[in-house]
Amino acid sequence: MKLMVVGSGGREHALAWSVARSSQVEAVLVAPGNPGTGAEGGKIRNLAVDSDDFDALAGLAEAHGVDLAIVGPEAPLAAGIRDYFDSRGLACFAPTRAAAQLESSKSFAKSFMARHGIPTAAHGTFSDSEAAEDYIRAQGAPIVVKADGLAAGKGVVVARTVEEAAASAREMLSGARFGDAGRQVVVEEFLAGEEASFTCVVDGKQALPLASSQDHKARDDGDTGPNTGGMGAYSPAPVVTSAVHDRVMSEIVDPTVRGMAAEGMPYQGFLYVGLMIAPDGAPRVVEYNCRFGDPEAQPVLMRLRSDLAELCKKALGQGISDIVLDWDPRPALGVVLAAGGYPIAYESGDPITGLGDDIPNSKVFHAGTRSDNGNVVTSGGRVLAVVGLGDDIIAAQASAYARVARIGWRGMQYRRDIGYRALARLADSGG
Ligand code: AMP
Ligand code: GLY
Repeated sequence: MKLMVVGSGGREHALAWSVARSSQVEAVLVAPGNPGTGAEGGKIRNLAVDSDDFDALAGLAEAHGVDLAIVGPEAPLAAGIRDYFDSRGLACFAPTRAAAQLESSKSFAKSFMARHGIPTAAHGTFSDSEAAEDYIRAQGAPIVVKADGLAAGKGVVVARTVEEAAASAREMLSGARFGDAGRQVVVEEFLAGEEASFTCVVDGKQALPLASSQDHKARDDGDTGPNTGGMGAYSPAPVVTSAVHDRVMSEIVDPTVRGMAAEGMPYQGFLYVGLMIAPDGAPRVVEYNCRFGDPEAQPVLMRLRSDLAELCKKALGQGISDIVLDWDPRPALGVVLAAGGYPIAYESGDPITGLGDDIPNSKVFHAGTRSDNGNVVTSGGRVLAVVGLGDDIIAAQASAYARVARIGWRGMQYRRDIGYRALARLADSGG
């Protein structure tokens, strides 16, 4: 099989690395990839093309005889890459543009969940700031304000006060903050509990859950500072006990897959459910993503021993009901190394040192990097994700941070406490 992985981030590096492990795969073309995928060698090779240029992507897929494309990021999904590849007769493991509304429109997702009785926060949708403010004052704080459209994981304000919420809604609705993505806002109930990421492979009728994970969205230690696309992640997430897992499948994932099919938008692709698990174990949906999480994909795929290429191919064809996945039992933990200033204004073009070493049980996935005269330099907010495997979460964390210690550039920042909740649970259980 020849595969194409669409995208250029850390998640796509992990997807390309994972599918290349399949004995059935002879080539993996990453479009456009990054210096990390470029340096993998072996079956993996980059193609210089924009991941939003569907015509060029399809042309390359045809020219190289690609059997299956796997799409990483949300933007091409929301723009209909699946529909376009279908129209060219090319196999593409991704939801259609209609199905991808679960992520691309928060108001679509909220009304879909209401129609199907899927547990989530109570909410109102507004395009008028006075109406939004009235609702905010009636509900009280804490309360959450979200831009309706895609805002790269940054369009959410968890407001501690009514004033902060009202100001955020006004700013989003004026278009000043997220452009058109904020012309409509969703205001929702604050959910207390612990978050987890739950990703499935879906074949249109059925969902096969992957290992659970948890990411850290706040920039700074102790979950403080601004929200980001994710500063680190680990798998499995101990908060997803087997009882919670069963509830997530029966109360959320299965009704979502059935509901999408019943509404004429059968869902194929990765389906990521961002969950809030209440103290009593009740799961509620914080958000859907129509793709693998980033940085969750990096630690989760480090643990996957099964053939991801075959899994995606079956999900588009005969179905996945007969597949049992094989996982490395060891936990994996990934630390994101970000450019100074991220997620607000950040520097780029700084040479990165210490990338060369190869250390067992750890792997460096590239995200915001580019090549510059033979050097790898920073070129984005989240630059690298460094993943470690270990016999327990403490060992996985030690392995990741030992690898991090060798890497540096001017202004590099990262959290020192990735995995702290899992470590605390281990301590609580006397383990
Ligand atoms: P989202 O982009 O919808 O995933 O939101 C980003 C982050 O904001 C989530 O990962 C949560 O940490 C937080 N968040 C979003 N919605 C809520 C909510 N209703 N209650 C509490 N926290 C939330
Ligand atoms: N890490 C969360 C996301 O990919 O949206």
